[in-house]
Amino acid sequence: VATTAPRDRARSIAPVVRDGACLRILDQTLLPGREAWQELRGARDTAAAIARLAVRGAPNIGIAAAHGAALEIAARPEAYKEGVAVLRAARPTAVNLAWAVDRVSAAAHGGGPDAALAEARAIQAQEDAASDALAAHGADILAGCRRILTHCNTGALATGGRGSALAVVQELAARGADVQVLVCETRPLLQGARLTVWELARLGLPHELLVDAAAAGLMRRGEVDAAVVGCDRVAANGDVANKVGTYTHALAARAAGIPFVVAGPTSSIDPALTDGDAVEIEERGADEVREAGGATLTLVGTPCRNPAFDVTPAQLVTALVTERGVAAPPDRASVGALLS
Ligand code: MRU
Repeated sequence: VATTAPRDRARSIAPVVRDGACLRILDQTLLPGREAWQELRGARDTAAAIARLAVRGAPNIGIAAAHGAALEIAARPEAYKEGVAVLRAARPTAVNLAWAVDRVSAAAHGGGPDAALAEARAIQAQEDAASDALAAHGADILAGCRRILTHCNTGALATGGRGSALAVVQELAARGADVQVLVCETRPLLQGARLTVWELARLGLPHELLVDAAAAGLMRRGEVDAAVVGCDRVAANGDVANKVGTYTHALAARAAGIPFVVAGPTSSIDPALTDGDAVEIEERGADEVREAGGATLTLVGTPCRNPAFDVTPAQLVTALVTERGVAAPPDRASVGALLS
């Protein structure tokens, strides 16, 4: 189904907003049907919101966790550590979560609650700026590409600023490319169908939704110029953990001979991990597989596997695009250079 929203409906999305002593998040579990906001006041409710994917996407998990930790520290300056530890463990795969919580905790250690609150704001500003910078780098290397396949949701709902992979697409369009975004629905939780489509419609960018299994065939038939995805954790050798299904798209892109580009801020790089085999892959509940849109798809009680992420080896990645530049191809040396 081709969908094009008029340009004048485009407006910016700010799904994580610090408002005095609370954090307001747009509840992404209700999109696209309903735009409802939830108020968070500390570490434990922020952890719960992250765990149920009300706020999601690696960079935005980090931003929300930074504010949640800072609010906890401000509310309980002598007794925040347990709550902050719960928050740090809310989801295991995106490194941005631990990275952000550790930065805010270190700031509190040195400068108390005010320093923690300031550090959370600094993390959000850093990620906003990273989005614009990486979008420009990504658009440089994808100049001439028009039909762009993407997976999951990597727009403003998932990151600071305009997004990561979706910011690259927006930048290509802003530079005059006649982009057509091919949106993979992203089972089981349909971040592509529910969230990326919602964002692209608001932005007025032409797009078509496809089932995940259609991607490889379209690539093989020459109907895709490039695939661009985000990342939750990049190991030191350039292996990429991202939403389950990403690896399949990378294999198909390689077989079809088209670029497979990963875009994300350097806060998603984990230099402590030698390679992608060391990434902890979150396993989520069976109901997410058994159900879709509130309907049960299979026999009650069917046993399921539900890994929420997979790892794409660096060898399948044409380029890793960050705010500090591009690692192409990503390997130990080029990824290390981004962090030096
Ligand atoms: O489970 P989610 O929706 O948080 O997974 C999100 C992804 O896998 C995104 O592709 C990734 O976080 C990159 S967002 C810039």
